[in-house]
Amino acid sequence: METVLSGIRSTGNLHLGNYFGAIKNFIKMQHQHRCYFFIADYHSLTTHPTPEDLHQNVRQVLVEYLAAGIDPEVATLYIQSDVPEVAELYLLLNMNAYMGELERCTTFKDKARKQTDNINAGLLTYPVLMAADILIHRATKVPVGKDQEQHLEMARTFGKRFNRMYNTEYFPEPYAFNFGVELIKIPGLDGSTKMGKSEGEGNAVFLADDPKTIRKKIMRAVTDSGPTEMNQPKAQAIENIFNIMKVVSSDDTVSYFEDQYNSCQIRYGDLKKQLAEDVIVFTTPLREKILEISADDVYLSKVARMGAEKARESAAKTVKEVREVIGFKPF
Ligand code: TYM
Repeated sequence: METVLSGIRSTGNLHLGNYFGAIKNFIKMQHQHRCYFFIADYHSLTTHPTPEDLHQNVRQVLVEYLAAGIDPEVATLYIQSDVPEVAELYLLLNMNAYMGELERCTTFKDKARKQTDNINAGLLTYPVLMAADILIHRATKVPVGKDQEQHLEMARTFGKRFNRMYNTEYFPEPYAFNFGVELIKIPGLDGSTKMGKSEGEGNAVFLADDPKTIRKKIMRAVTDSGPTEMNQPKAQAIENIFNIMKVVSSDDTVSYFEDQYNSCQIRYGDLKKQLAEDVIVFTTPLREKILEISADDVYLSKVARMGAEKARESAAKTVKEVREVIGFKPF
């Protein structure tokens, strides 16, 4: 049995990318490993949410985790800020994380380009906080989508550097993990290569979207003027639609439309209609559970309390041991 840790930032509703990149695997893994799944609300502060939005978003992610099938009696499901030990480990790890490597991180460069008026230190040290999340439970497996690969590499660097510095083997090496298959990246509906929470209107299908919204978003998805030659390579936007179809539709449906495309007979309207219906079939049971769980405040607060207690036990043990390794001693 290994220790698995993964998290989702509480910056908005969960989308198909989150589900297929990460959550789907959490559900399978919870019965085989010691699993910690959490809501990264400290991380969400980099974009300065209002207190109301912060709380509402954390609540929504908690609801959606549960609706997707995480069993809080089996896995440890918690909110990051309920475990202040994470902040202490983050502080300690920051002492041997270097400016150069943090500045070179692709997600930092990306964010710095997008939010030029708010390039804060939290954004720069985001990978250190993420390393603290993982190392605090000494996790070895981290189920994530492809976009998190570099962060995982940095978590290994910080853990190994700590070990070297103090001549110990305290932290094991964490690896990105997708239950035996390649890490995946679900594309957006707007022609961009990634579905994301903050990519703008029309990019993402959220698990909580109703059928009408899903149809509208998918029918508006970017396409081109259609193939003019047999077996023509697909433009990015068309490839995206097929890639989303591959995760929600049957193999027969995908190959039917592939054939239609390759023989230049495809009608994008039909392709999108089919995709919309298949997405709706997939998300409807989730949406219904989201609504049901969201109405149960008593259950949600019980889950959060139980998760915090279990997560803190493991986190407090690590911080105590790390303090000893570093040389903090009581007087
Ligand atoms: P976040 O909140 O952006 O995404 C949560 C999870 O969903 C995956 N994901 C995707 N997978 C495939 N295709 C997509 N389009 C897509 N979009 C998102 C992400 O890879 C991720 O697994 N930094 C993390 C949160 C975090 C974390 C951690 C994760 C904080 N500490 C420790 C693991 C371990 C993040 O922003 O994920």
